[in-house]
Amino acid sequence: AIERTFSIIKPDATRRNLTGKINAKFEEAGLKIVAQRRIQMSEAQAKKFYDVHAARPFYNDLVKFMTSGPVVVQVLEGEGAVLKNRDIMGATNPANAAPGTIRKEFAESIEANSVHGSDSLENAAIEIAYFFAGSDIVG
Ligand code: CMP
Repeated sequence: AIERTFSIIKPDATRRNLTGKINAKFEEAGLKIVAQRRIQMSEAQAKKFYDVHAARPFYNDLVKFMTSGPVVVQVLEGEGAVLKNRDIMGATNPANAAPGTIRKEFAESIEANSVHGSDSLENAAIEIAYFFAGSDIVG
């Protein structure tokens, strides 16, 4: 089925001017960027977005990292978009990411791993609604 998933190009990637190269990976795989905005995340936004990780030892560093520079929030649309995007991104830890994936090619570390992608269709809807109004998304 045609799905929508939520994506973030993280500060390590915007810092190295990799937005276009990462977007090319999405488009080459058949995902369409149907909404996109470059923002500076506030501490409150980052904390809320990553609330599910609040008890993890890496939470405070993660919030610091995600607010350390601009991010690009996006909605990606396509056949099986949630799983497809996770394939394009590769494993969370770039050391375990498959060749050709975004994280293998671009990520600096398990934290500075260049992209976020929703892990389920349900979370995709929640994450999209957190950053975009329906009228921002043009399919
Ligand atoms: P993301 O897919 O956005 O979800 C949680 C983020 O926490 C992850 O990508 C990484 O940027 C960051 N992170 C930092 N350390 C870890 C860790 N040990 N395990 C998982 N995620 C981590």
